[in-house]
Amino acid sequence: MPPALPLPRLRTVAVAAGAALLAKRALRRRIRKSPLWPLPALEEPISGRTQRRSTTGRRLLLTERTSPAEGVVQLRLEGPDLPAWEPGAHLDLVLPSGLVRQYSLCGDPADTGAYTVAARLVEGGRGGSREVHGALHEGMEVEVRGPRNRFPLTDAPAHLLIAGGIGITPVLPMVRRLAAEGADWHLLYGGWSRATMPFLEEIEKLGADGGRVTVVPRDEAGHPDLAAALADTAEGTAVHCCGPRPLMDAVAAALPPGRTLHLERFSAAGTDPADAEPFEVELRRSGLTVPVAADQSVLAAVRAELPHVPYSCEQGFCGTCQQRVLAGEVEHRDELLTDAERAQAMLICVSRCRGGGRLVLDL
Ligand code: FES
Repeated sequence: MPPALPLPRLRTVAVAAGAALLAKRALRRRIRKSPLWPLPALEEPISGRTQRRSTTGRRLLLTERTSPAEGVVQLRLEGPDLPAWEPGAHLDLVLPSGLVRQYSLCGDPADTGAYTVAARLVEGGRGGSREVHGALHEGMEVEVRGPRNRFPLTDAPAHLLIAGGIGITPVLPMVRRLAAEGADWHLLYGGWSRATMPFLEEIEKLGADGGRVTVVPRDEAGHPDLAAALADTAEGTAVHCCGPRPLMDAVAAALPPGRTLHLERFSAAGTDPADAEPFEVELRRSGLTVPVAADQSVLAAVRAELPHVPYSCEQGFCGTCQQRVLAGEVEHRDELLTDAERAQAMLICVSRCRGGGRLVLDL
């Protein structure tokens, strides 16, 4: 039998063992809290993870909820030291259900203590606007990410701004900026009726000097004459347009040569099943092959078999659904991934297989 340790030595050993245990637990806690957790495998992490790690959210206080038009709610979200933004930028709102939706900033960039967004209620939509209208109330904290700007106001000798309905939100800060600078600009603003068109009063005031604003409520004046408005522009004019997809397609089709076109889409290009074909996706690690119908996303087909596969925006904006591609030719329909990321991955909520073939995913 080994000789018993003297009491002081025993106490020292016990203290050292206890300290080691506490240190180990603290280290484990730190690792679990680390933005790198779960640690990527030895291979390069795919950018869906990278995207989530690098996108830091902040919680802002919803201090004011107003209605600038029928069916539209405007939210003022306040917080300290907010990152600056420029006209055209948008914010990701993380809704209480976990859905992430993008809304253009429509307030004043000089107001560094708050972000303002507006959302139209879309009946029969995918639920984001219903949640904004029904579940966000004054006094709540709301998580936001961004701002990001895919639709900046470009330098040009003249500007034509075209907005349809709630598409006015990124355009309004542009109008304010151009009016303040004394620039050469014109706004064509269409909507269902004056009652449903937000910010009309301010916009008409901004354009009062020189007839720079044309308001076209459909119930009074029909569709805006896009061809005439575009034909009136001088060569070198920058055309910025935000609104429903048919409006943006019509502007693109009627654009005269020598003008630049800048579009803000809040549904990813190519999410329309009209231009899609069916194909198959092999989920290599799961040993499954799933058919993807022409009117179905890869995400929907995959989640029917693997319901844990993560997603959020379903529009190719957030990167949550990104998956590694092992084989096959991807038709990328997002505007988020870089070329390097596209070489090895895809956003399965919007992107598809080129030519109706077969994709192999690392799932
Ligand atoms: S779910 Fe957001 S990019 Fe696919």
